[in-house]
Amino acid sequence: MNGNKWWKNAVIYQIYPRSFADSNQDGIGDLQGIISRLDYLENLGVDAVWLSPVCKSPQDDNGYDISDYQDIDPMFGTLEDMEELIREAGKHNIRIIMDLVLNHSSDEHHWFQEAKKSRENPYHDYYVWRDGVEGTPPNNMRAAFGGSAWEWVPELQQYYFHQFSVKQPDLNWENPKLRQEIYDMINWWIDKGVGGFRLDVIDQIAKEPDKGITNNGPYLHEYLRELSRETFQKADLVTVGEAWGATTELAKLYSNPDNSELSMVFQFEHICLDQMEGKEKWDLAPLPFLKLKEVFARWQRELYGKGWNSLFWNNHDLPRIVSRWGNDGKYRIESAKMFAILLHGMQGTPYIYQGEELGMTNAVYEIEEYRDIETLNLYQERLEKGFKKEDVMDSIHAKSRDNARTPMQWDDGENGGFTQGKPWIKVNPNYKEINALKQIEDGDSIFNCYKELIHFRKKYPVFIEGDFSLLLAEDENIFAYTREDKDTLLLVVCNFYNKTVECPLEESVASMKLLISNYDKEKEQMLLRPYEARMYLKEK
Ligand code: GLC
Ligand code: CA
Repeated sequence: MNGNKWWKNAVIYQIYPRSFADSNQDGIGDLQGIISRLDYLENLGVDAVWLSPVCKSPQDDNGYDISDYQDIDPMFGTLEDMEELIREAGKHNIRIIMDLVLNHSSDEHHWFQEAKKSRENPYHDYYVWRDGVEGTPPNNMRAAFGGSAWEWVPELQQYYFHQFSVKQPDLNWENPKLRQEIYDMINWWIDKGVGGFRLDVIDQIAKEPDKGITNNGPYLHEYLRELSRETFQKADLVTVGEAWGATTELAKLYSNPDNSELSMVFQFEHICLDQMEGKEKWDLAPLPFLKLKEVFARWQRELYGKGWNSLFWNNHDLPRIVSRWGNDGKYRIESAKMFAILLHGMQGTPYIYQGEELGMTNAVYEIEEYRDIETLNLYQERLEKGFKKEDVMDSIHAKSRDNARTPMQWDDGENGGFTQGKPWIKVNPNYKEINALKQIEDGDSIFNCYKELIHFRKKYPVFIEGDFSLLLAEDENIFAYTREDKDTLLLVVCNFYNKTVECPLEESVASMKLLISNYDKEKEQMLLRPYEARMYLKEK
């Protein structure tokens, strides 16, 4: 049972290593850079750090294309640096969570190099192949980064399947030998002392391309239970699967308290709300606020006692929340804190993506400044289809993954203190205004708001096990809810918009203590100012 698991009251911080801190001034963040910032992370109060992939990789998809799962990419350092990071982080009471990319490898992985030598090669069946004739792929499935999901290999007269780029061939989980190799590799990392794993696109491993199935294939949970049994269950780890196709029903399987699969999943129902129905994320639509509340409330309610939620607004694939659904101008600070207070009161394990704790914003760049394979392919594809450049750029400014990937803003020095070299991607020019150094010193900063929230989550058990109820479900501006256990009542009330509204909860809050808010605590209690957020507590 996972009743008292450490990760239930943990807060996890995501680092995108190439953009976090550069120790050797080559313009790319690295492991020694992370080690040099452990004090910062301890000060914030996080319990674990999830590192986006640092294994050896040709970097076609910034490390999500791994060519050696048991070595570190020289760009980030060495295996010794990784061991040092695990050790040093431990001294700061921080566990290191690795990113496992198990749906596909790089085409430069030796398995694939072997696999494409001949149909008889022992590694051939580690990947997904179909016979065919050149120019006529087995079916019309598309890859996530554009183009067909099938790539022709003339020497073999076969196609291989890739759900992402051509340099990310899908692994064949039907092959028990491949699965065993994966388990051995994971156990090797567990022995090195990692604190857990984030599992990249885990719901896509059981694909069945002949049936057009990408995620949630029929054998998915069978594979996951075997994986968990052979690896994770041997240690006290946190495991979180990325599952774009998760529903609450599926999430209860993944995060079953019997510990048979994973600790929790990242689900994306809330994240996908601001796009046109049945279209892509680039096809922008306004956020349906009532629906957002309904989605959160349903996940909170349905997993209560039966599974476990992850809580997040941001990651390396998503735009910055303060620019996305908040206000990155006049009310940047207020709205960034509102998102923090709103999320951290809920049940689940919160994830903070680097720079979120500073209210870092989206980047609005010319196309030349973008580096992400998805963004660059999308740009080409849409222009070829006849979209107006202006509209394509609007989509990119709103949704490009590079919004989250600009370098961490440490101080107001050159390149925001990220590097003295030439950064691999342009630093957001607002670093003079938005940076860590400034916020650590300012008791009222977004950073210190996150820090306090982390502290409260550890202090009051109601954050961990309290039952959730949505209030004012039909209110067009306010997101409010309670959490309750036998001793304590917690109330969170947030004005989600840029206008002053009446707060219909005055009576309930009269007897409660204001724990944290994003405005001067004394004034205008009857109204909620733009993006005003308050968290109240009452001991019963
Ligand atoms: C996941 C990662 C993303 C990557 C993709 C393919 O969605 O988060 O960054 O491009 O998987 O590995
Ligand atoms: Ca470097």
